[in-house]
Amino acid sequence: MPADKKRDFSCARLWDLLRAEADFVKEFACSPFHVGSICPSSRALASRLVSLAWDTAQSASPAVAANGLLIDLGAGPGPVTGALLRAGVAPERIVAVERSASFARTFTQRYRQVPLLVGDAADLRQMLATTYPATPVAAIISSLPFRAIPRKTASRILRELRETLIERGGVLVQYSYAWWLKDALCKEGFSPHESRLVFQNVPPARVESYVAELDHRPKLML
Ligand SMILES: C[S@@+](CC[C@H](N)C(=O)[O-])C[C@H]1O[C@@H](n2cnc3c(N)ncnc32)[C@H](O)[C@@H]1O
Repeated sequence: MPADKKRDFSCARLWDLLRAEADFVKEFACSPFHVGSICPSSRALASRLVSLAWDTAQSASPAVAANGLLIDLGAGPGPVTGALLRAGVAPERIVAVERSASFARTFTQRYRQVPLLVGDAADLRQMLATTYPATPVAAIISSLPFRAIPRKTASRILRELRETLIERGGVLVQYSYAWWLKDALCKEGFSPHESRLVFQNVPPARVESYVAELDHRPKLML
């Protein structure tokens, strides 16, 4: 690659990263409880989310893993979608879901080829029904900020995610700093599958994968 082009490329990439970071800080300042973090996921964290989603989906059902949708839930400016594209996933297999109109604009400018649904994770099935009436899901890769979401709302969202996976197949991958989340996921009918720690992120994060239990009965929290 000619040196000029190389410089152009890295300047464009640096500009893109700075803009995404500035957007993030602005969004966080406007609605800290919806954003839940002051900076986007690092490349290492986004790549780990994608590899864990792939490994868990493969062990749950290789056929669905090979063809199902990959849902980037709480996509923000799109670091997880970036990691999916770098891993070679076709853009039409990715569906980004984001509730903030401002993040949605940034996302669309960066990833024009990736479909984005603007709305609330609590309405996921309804959002998917219009555009993807019967397409299976390989994985929901969620960066929803559960530490900042009220517990009642969190339970509603988790129930919605489980129903989506029961209807369409697939697994859930989540990173979070909420200590109570694993218990809440088990209570809502998810079985933990695998857990990995990612140090190259601010702050270091735990990434976990879950499978939706088919015969779940509500458990009492003691
Ligand atoms: C911690 S940020 C993660 C953003 C990005 N995925 C990343 O890894 O950097 C959480 C994102 O979830 C979005 N979000 C929060 N609650 C949501 C909800 N109920 N439905 C859809 N998106 C939501 C926020 O707007 C924000 O973009």
